[in-house]
Amino acid sequence: MTRRQFPRNLAWLAGVLAAGGERALAQRSLLERRAPAGMIWLNANENPDGPCPQAIEAMRQALPQAWRYHFSEFPDIYAAVARSEGLAAEQVLVGAGSSEVLCAAVHAFTSPARPLILPEPTYELPAELAVALGRRVIRVPLTEGYLADVERLAREAAQAGGGLIYLCNPNNPTSALLPEGRLKWLTENLPPETLLLVDEAYLHYVEGAEQISALRYVREGAPVVVTRTFSKIYGMAGLRVGFGCARADLIRRMRPFRSGVISWVSAQAALAALAEAPRLIPERRQRLARIRGELCAWLRERGFEYIEPQANFVMIRVNRDVRTVIEALWERGIAVGRPFPPLDHMLRVSIGTSVEMTRFREVFEQVLSG
Ligand SMILES: Cc1ncc(COP(=O)(O)O)c(C=O)c1O
Repeated sequence: MTRRQFPRNLAWLAGVLAAGGERALAQRSLLERRAPAGMIWLNANENPDGPCPQAIEAMRQALPQAWRYHFSEFPDIYAAVARSEGLAAEQVLVGAGSSEVLCAAVHAFTSPARPLILPEPTYELPAELAVALGRRVIRVPLTEGYLADVERLAREAAQAGGGLIYLCNPNNPTSALLPEGRLKWLTENLPPETLLLVDEAYLHYVEGAEQISALRYVREGAPVVVTRTFSKIYGMAGLRVGFGCARADLIRRMRPFRSGVISWVSAQAALAALAEAPRLIPERRQRLARIRGELCAWLRERGFEYIEPQANFVMIRVNRDVRTVIEALWERGIAVGRPFPPLDHMLRVSIGTSVEMTRFREVFEQVLSG
């Protein structure tokens, strides 16, 4: 994009953002434009570590067998995924990314009478689907500390006569973690006819993650669905593997809304990555924490405020309309997160490699001093 194109793009952006009900969808499409060569991708919370070597080797070996669906082999794959979380095979639903499972949950557990209830801002996909299905969506602002207001989520569900509460933990886009006590309170105070969907796409990045996970409530038989993904810490976003964990009766209700088996090649990669998880996850978590810590220290030195991050992205206060910052960074070869209204003065940046983050700091400083 040239400098002359910049104002035109801003006008286009404003038009897109005015598109009311399709707001979130439009915001996501902003960064799906054709990108210049050499773009630094800090926009989708991916992991540049990529698939581990064992996953790549497993895919190499699986490729010649990719002419078959391998239906009969999937039960063993589901059982292995379930075992990795201490669950039985009938307690997991494997999908093309956790997106497919989140969508299945919205299909299965919302209805004309049962709304989707969620904090705002949060990951938009569940609300987008609910809107498209004509479901009511109840949006509850975050607290002043950028956390989900669990009392109000429960109250809204009670007033609606039940529904599906979606909670992303750590939350996208804030990168903030809900304290374990708050999650416990919510699971213990779910109103009748209410289900809790906890999206743990980024939980692997949190130290002591297993203690904080809502999987414990699934194991206790609570009306809770937990989603996990291979897209983030495992570095396999393009392979599209994720899964949901819940009581067998809840999994049965979601299953009809899944499209079928996932890619055989991706499934082999996921199994190989799971086998490496005990080593891979802490190693990657530590590396991420180091690079993220460097960014946070740099921000503090320069007086930039940010929300204390727990995941592989940071929400930084830019004190101006974030759309202009997003555009200016894009123009200089750095793709960052979309706007997340109402946090219109905050920028979400994913943590990339050390080299990428050094470049981000240079360009971010230039843009904000301009
Ligand atoms: C909170 C959250 N949940 C789910 C997803 C979807 O991930 P996937 O479908 O790749 O598992 C994303 C993607 O960015 C996300 O941020």
